[in-house]
Amino acid sequence: MSEIKKIGVFTSGGDAPGMNACIRAVVRTAIFKNIEVVGIRQGYQGMLECNFWDMTARDVGNIIHIGGTILKTARCLEFKTAEGTKKAYENLKAHGIDALVAIGGDGTANGADRLSRTFDIPVMCIPGTIDNDLNGSDFTLGFDTATNTVIEAIDKIRDTAASHDRLFFIEVMGRDSGCIALHAGIAGGAEAVLLPERETAIDELIEKLSSQAKNKKTSSIVIVAEGDKNGGAYHVAARVKEKFDFYDSKVTILGHLQRGGSPSSFDRILASRLGFAAVKALLNGRTRQMVGLRGNAIVLTPLEEALNISHFKLEDDLLEMINVLSI
Ligand code: F6P
Repeated sequence: MSEIKKIGVFTSGGDAPGMNACIRAVVRTAIFKNIEVVGIRQGYQGMLECNFWDMTARDVGNIIHIGGTILKTARCLEFKTAEGTKKAYENLKAHGIDALVAIGGDGTANGADRLSRTFDIPVMCIPGTIDNDLNGSDFTLGFDTATNTVIEAIDKIRDTAASHDRLFFIEVMGRDSGCIALHAGIAGGAEAVLLPERETAIDELIEKLSSQAKNKKTSSIVIVAEGDKNGGAYHVAARVKEKFDFYDSKVTILGHLQRGGSPSSFDRILASRLGFAAVKALLNGRTRQMVGLRGNAIVLTPLEEALNISHFKLEDDLLEMINVLSI
């Protein structure tokens, strides 16, 4: 592998709180080590359009606390074609970029893996997605902040639910992952959580809500992950209402507000650690790794392993605990 002189950094896929803190860490670590850094705006789209920004340490000042991504982001179909990947590589080479740090979710890492394997350019991937669905890290950037945003919403909804004796169905993001739903469900004291990873029969949910009502509960909150197989919060609410009309019920879809906002201290620290480690790993000759957190240690996981999400498991004890604590 030839010596690295100029690193490209980009964000891709859905934005996540903490991405800016991570860009800051990558840019400043590289500059500290006398490596030039180029910000690639709009991810893979920006590679195809040569949307490059030669960055200085000052360009990443005053962004550690800001949500979103100063490099912008996009979902790019053209890059997925063989011609698109080749064009992106040629543009990178023409700009003297000889290694990449990719910040994003599984789509971003898959793209970086393909680019690196096809053209032998070193890449490091940093898990940046609110979904927490990558195998190379206990936590992805943005998950903690998004979960806190959901909890804040649950707390507010709980006030009105309790005042009116209502049943609320709150739909949260996560694509095929139930991590936000599960963690926010615990921290928000939800009565039930519906997840993509576990099928919940509507009859089972009704039975649970009935037994809680018999136990003198007058209001309830059910968290529905967007990927749940029952078809979303509106559908679940309608089916519950058909057979169980004890409560006046309402639906809230939290949507994209979960992606915004100032990153939590956890996400800022994680972002800084991962960005710092990614540059050091590239300079140490490593490539095609996911830089992640395991326990409290920063670890590198080969991309093929990190992207094999069939290894990813929700903690069963947490689900069991929700059932116990919501009686
Ligand atoms: O991957 C992050 C995420 O917010 C998912 O939770 C959600 O399913 C998806 O992105 C929404 O994507 P978009 O912003 O393109 O609608």
